[in-house]
Amino acid sequence: MTDRLDGMDDGKRTPWVVGVSGASGTPYAAAVLRGLLAAGESVDLVVSRASRLTLLDETGISFRDAHWREDLGTWLARGADGKPDTFDVAGSLGDVRYWAAGDLAAGPSSGSYPAKGMLVVPASTAAVAGVALGLSKDLLQRVASVTLKERRPLVVAVRETPLNGQTLKHMVALDEAGAVVLPASPAFYAGATHIQDLVDFVAGRVLDAAGVPHRLYRRWEGELGGATRPV
Ligand SMILES: Cc1cc2nc3c(=O)[nH]c(=O)nc-3n(C[C@H](O)[C@H](O)[C@H](O)COP(=O)(O)O)c2cc1C
Repeated sequence: MTDRLDGMDDGKRTPWVVGVSGASGTPYAAAVLRGLLAAGESVDLVVSRASRLTLLDETGISFRDAHWREDLGTWLARGADGKPDTFDVAGSLGDVRYWAAGDLAAGPSSGSYPAKGMLVVPASTAAVAGVALGLSKDLLQRVASVTLKERRPLVVAVRETPLNGQTLKHMVALDEAGAVVLPASPAFYAGATHIQDLVDFVAGRVLDAAGVPHRLYRRWEGELGGATRPV
């Protein structure tokens, strides 16, 4: 039998997997998710068990698997300054698929599941260790390992300070395995005036590493003084 292969890629859903782990920085995850959806990307979302604590602490949202769409809508509508973001929750959330953190049979746990790559944001030192060592102790870590073995882009937005030697070694191991290790470290040259600007800078760098177009921050143009010019 001769199979026709020319239809293999015709509009097949190929999402970015976004893994949210339990480091401080749930506003970074919200900004990345908004950026991906604004760019028309499909998203598969994995929220670690520990990140529910940071989400609760930082936003007041109790994230529930059974009500993920509603909880995600509330989360994405919340800016880091405590004000509503301009994200259109009244409209559609876009193409988001949600997988429970303990579901090791979820689609993205296999390399044969189509995906563009994975963005772990924010990444806890525990997630960094788990991925560096290939532990796959939950879905987030499993998908990150799959992303590496499939040679797809993996961006790991680490959030911890200071860093101990173990984490530094794990970060080197991730870099050597092909991941982009991207500390959640905002810069001040882009003219930030609000907390959200700093969050958007980090989210924008995550999207840069993934090659997703966005307008989240003002890029350096080779001239000093940008930080004090009105945006
Ligand atoms: C409020 C709160 C803030 C935390 N912030 C960080 C952090 O910034 N970086 C980090 O590596 N871990 C942080 N942790 C610890 C992680 O949540 C913990 O190591 C957890 O095991 C991570 O699991 P996960 O990688 O499966 O999400 C924080 C925990 C809590 C409760």
